[in-house]
Amino acid sequence: MLHNKRITLFITGGIASYKAAELTRQFIKAGAVVRVVMTDNAQKFISPLTLQVLSKNKVYTDTFDEQDAEVVSHIHLADSTDLTVIAPATANMIAKMANGIADDMSSTTLLAITAPKLIVPAMNVNMLEHPATQSNLKKLQSYGDTILDPDTGFLAEGYEGKGRMPDPYKIVEAATSLLIERDESLPLKNKKVIIAAGGTKERIDPVRYITNDSSGKMGYSLATVARNLGAQVTLVSASSIEQPFGVTFIAVESARDMQEQMLKHYETADIVIMAAAVSDYRSKEQSTQKIKKSSDDLELVLEKNPDILAGMGKDKKRQFLIGFAAETNDLEKYAMDKLVRKKADMIVANDVSKQDAGFNADTNEVIIFQPDREPIAIDLKSKDEIAFDILKIAIKTINEK
Ligand code: PMT
Repeated sequence: MLHNKRITLFITGGIASYKAAELTRQFIKAGAVVRVVMTDNAQKFISPLTLQVLSKNKVYTDTFDEQDAEVVSHIHLADSTDLTVIAPATANMIAKMANGIADDMSSTTLLAITAPKLIVPAMNVNMLEHPATQSNLKKLQSYGDTILDPDTGFLAEGYEGKGRMPDPYKIVEAATSLLIERDESLPLKNKKVIIAAGGTKERIDPVRYITNDSSGKMGYSLATVARNLGAQVTLVSASSIEQPFGVTFIAVESARDMQEQMLKHYETADIVIMAAAVSDYRSKEQSTQKIKKSSDDLELVLEKNPDILAGMGKDKKRQFLIGFAAETNDLEKYAMDKLVRKKADMIVANDVSKQDAGFNADTNEVIIFQPDREPIAIDLKSKDEIAFDILKIAIKTINEK
């Protein structure tokens, strides 16, 4: 998404300026073209040379340093910006932006930019919470700018509070989301995608449960890629790995919780993906107190959980339903059986006996089955890449229908 996008990064004078070096590196790694503008105060915290080396571009610091007679540099920079990121954004720069003050290279360029702006405030908690700063932030939001909420944690002042600049990867995620939101040409624009991920937990007592090895990685990759393709994504998750940015996240525990949430969003969904490993059974009794060790044997009676995918298949209207098949043998036979029995439009079969595929791995290797179509085998690659292939094939099938 950020490939070849022209990002103008404004670094203003706060202690978090040092994190802007890593942010620049991550933008460059994502394929963006980064031009950096620094205020005088920012240069007291970090050298322009560092940013020049990392961005492989000249760093702008002075409005009157006009090297090229053909252009006015701050206007040229403003006009050739696809995305603006102000990180860290000090209370002073936020106040200038909110009030149209243009008295240095950063503020004049910011006033001239029409491209979307992502503002990343970072400052002392009391400065952040001051009504003047809060009202300036509200004003900027009313102008259409996006504010990334600061993190709470240990501040440079030596105490805990809100005001820390979020980690650079979160800023990259927020920048990506901002561009996705505004790109009308993406193939899943205005489509609703709901995804179930992770291994459900079935309680036995307050401290014990039945679960499986699913990490949620496959479902989270699908959520991130669907979001990058422009979809409005709802991720129903039984996993505890870090939530992807820019998706509606719903945490669940048991199969029945997951079913309730999936059905809540099913009616309006365009694509539904069951990447979760749902417990087929649950304990018939759930003790409200910790079960004590007593006899040598303990019998646990299990009862069947609902089959979420099959239930949705039965009630299918316009939804495109994608299920997974976690198998250790006879992949084709079992996947085809699930495709028909659960009335899915696609079954993604993975051989979970392989070390680099299926549960908990960062990679996967799958075969895609669809009614009346030849199976498509996808060789071992990262779960993000597999997710992209799955969605690309689903979009093609939907468009051909
Ligand atoms: O989470 P990771 O660590 O990244 O691992 C990924 C994965 C291996 C969990 C994933 O790729 C995968 O295969 N998910 C489906 C696992 C599974 O439960 O497969 P199954 O063959 O038992 O079920 C078939 C389909 O029915 C699945 O889409 C499943 O979500 C669904 N199902 C199963 C049981 C049930 N009660 N309700 C269901 O909806």
